[in-house]
Amino acid sequence: MKILLTGAAGFIGFHTAQQLLARGDEVIGLDNFSPYYDPKLKEARAAQLEGKNGFQMIRADILDRDAVSKAMKGCDRVCHLAALAGVRYAFDHPDEYIDINIRGFFNVLDEARKQEIAGMTYASSSSVYGGNTKMPLAETDRTDNQLSLYGMNKKDNELMAHAYHSLYGLPVTGLRFFTVYGPWGRPDMALFLFTDAILHNRTLQIYGQGKMQRDFTFVDDIVSGIVASIDKNFPEEVFNLGCGRTEELMDYVAAVEKACGREGKKEFLPMQPGDVVRTEADIAKAKKMLGFDPKTQIKEGVPRFVEWYRKYYGL
Ligand SMILES: NC(=O)c1ccc[n+]([C@@H]2O[C@H](COP(=O)([O-])OP(=O)(O)OC[C@H]3O[C@@H](n4cnc5c(N)ncnc54)[C@H](O)[C@@H]3O)[C@@H](O)[C@H]2O)c1
Repeated sequence: MKILLTGAAGFIGFHTAQQLLARGDEVIGLDNFSPYYDPKLKEARAAQLEGKNGFQMIRADILDRDAVSKAMKGCDRVCHLAALAGVRYAFDHPDEYIDINIRGFFNVLDEARKQEIAGMTYASSSSVYGGNTKMPLAETDRTDNQLSLYGMNKKDNELMAHAYHSLYGLPVTGLRFFTVYGPWGRPDMALFLFTDAILHNRTLQIYGQGKMQRDFTFVDDIVSGIVASIDKNFPEEVFNLGCGRTEELMDYVAAVEKACGREGKKEFLPMQPGDVVRTEADIAKAKKMLGFDPKTQIKEGVPRFVEWYRKYYGL
């Protein structure tokens, strides 16, 4: 298959590209190497992909409709992962979120409709569940209670995809990822920040007084769910992709300290606006319909990240 993969220089996009290429798909990556975090890391990921058989990277913005249109020509599927992905950055940059996560999403979706693409898979987020307290979080639960602009963006994406499926029959699958981590991970996420702080003898800033709980999902497991969604190409679905087990934040910190071989100094801070106390994914639907079977627990996944981090930064 020939697949347009937006956000291919990003954390999850990079791993997805590798998996698709490994099984012989053709991948057209589209990414603008946005400066939201160090573009050098995106360049380094792209360098791993460029030159591989079947891969092409197009450096373009999803807001550039012509570029999206050209990149999509002749593709069998679209996998749309490009977005501004951090919850907190939106507080100071709301306009960019509306532009990229709403208008940009529309550009990709509408172009897929126009070119009669056979199916589009896109990244949603556990953030659509917002302040829900009933656990585990299931696809059938209410999603009208977002606590962040980012969560609202992702809910809006799901609604837009639903409308496009209803109006034009475009097959659409939304994937609600739950806190993804692993090698080549994002510098704005907890695992990177904790590892960086410990290995540079800086204080770890721990929000929510360390009382938050998360369903942490290893990136290889997420990618297996993405690839299964592309292959199954259901008419219209939304799936939770999580590990299906929830960890205490302090157990996650302990796993990082163990992998780094030393303890970190800690500063406990209150919850940040937009944060949720707990996430716990109900993954029964993804298991049943996608054959999704997440295997990696934090005791294996965290050391794999730390090993990558040390090698990449020469520490
Ligand atoms: N990592 C997680 O835990 C997580 C959880 C839930 C949902 N998601 C979603 O998964 C997707 C991938 O996330 P990620 O963690 O790999 O983030 P990422 O920031 O590493 O990847 C996103 C990529 O999109 C690109 N991009 C941003 N704006 C663009 C634009 N205007 N035009 C073209 N490219 C643009 C960026 O340069 C980046 O390479 C996102 O949609 C994100 O919202 C991620």
